[in-house]
Amino acid sequence: MSDSVIPPTPSRLDYTEDELYKIQAERNAVPIFHRDDPIKLFGEWMADARHLEMNDSNAMSLATVDASGQADVRIVLLKSFDDAGFVFYSNGESAKGDQLNANAHAALCFHWKSLRRQVRIRGTAEKVNAAESDAYFASRARGSQIGAAASDQSRPLESREVFERRVRDLTETYKEKNIPRPPHWGGWRIKPDVIEFWRDRPFRLHDRLVFTANKGKWRKERLFP
Ligand SMILES: Cc1cc2nc3c(=O)[nH]c(=O)nc-3n(C[C@H](O)[C@H](O)[C@H](O)COP(=O)(O)O)c2cc1C
Repeated sequence: MSDSVIPPTPSRLDYTEDELYKIQAERNAVPIFHRDDPIKLFGEWMADARHLEMNDSNAMSLATVDASGQADVRIVLLKSFDDAGFVFYSNGESAKGDQLNANAHAALCFHWKSLRRQVRIRGTAEKVNAAESDAYFASRARGSQIGAAASDQSRPLESREVFERRVRDLTETYKEKNIPRPPHWGGWRIKPDVIEFWRDRPFRLHDRLVFTANKGKWRKERLFP
């Protein structure tokens, strides 16, 4: 069964004759190993991804660990990044919220298929301050603000109808009023300790460049693929 749905292992022809692959390979041969600022390099890769990905170029896997040491992972959207870290927004009472409260160590992973690139980030999560969360919440579409207020994210929902009724009730309550940010909804910033850039090269001879935070500076090394 799985043979019919798993793509075949690339052949020599896929690497050497496929037009799209050749364009991607050329892009992934541009030198990066002299680069010293991983945040700047990340920004350039994000810009490439925004241009080429079909949708959600800012989607990233967020891995967390619960109080018993069990790992969990899900996709969230990156909303900003700079030297201080990588920010996403969610419900603080969700499974991920509980897990980050129990253990602030977290990891992020981006995979851009259009670029054949991956970025992995390991670090520590801290809550974004209230003013920053308020500003982001205020920038969202009204429907998304209501959705955030209506959702007890990650807890059991008896029926779709219960959720839709809540959305209708909140829409009525806040008719012609600003919708306040729910106190349990906000941002987390992952402060990076390690950032790894991976890019596809033909015949699985991939490039890996890893930056490790070291006394306020970035130490850089190449890894075997
Ligand atoms: C493309 C994509 C983007 C998503 N973005 C977010 C997000 O930014 N914040 C969020 O809370 N959930 C987001 N989700 C939903 C999460 O993957 C997840 O279902 C939800 O946050 C509950 O996770 P938890 O039970 O582990 O807390 C997104 C899902 C997908 C597929």
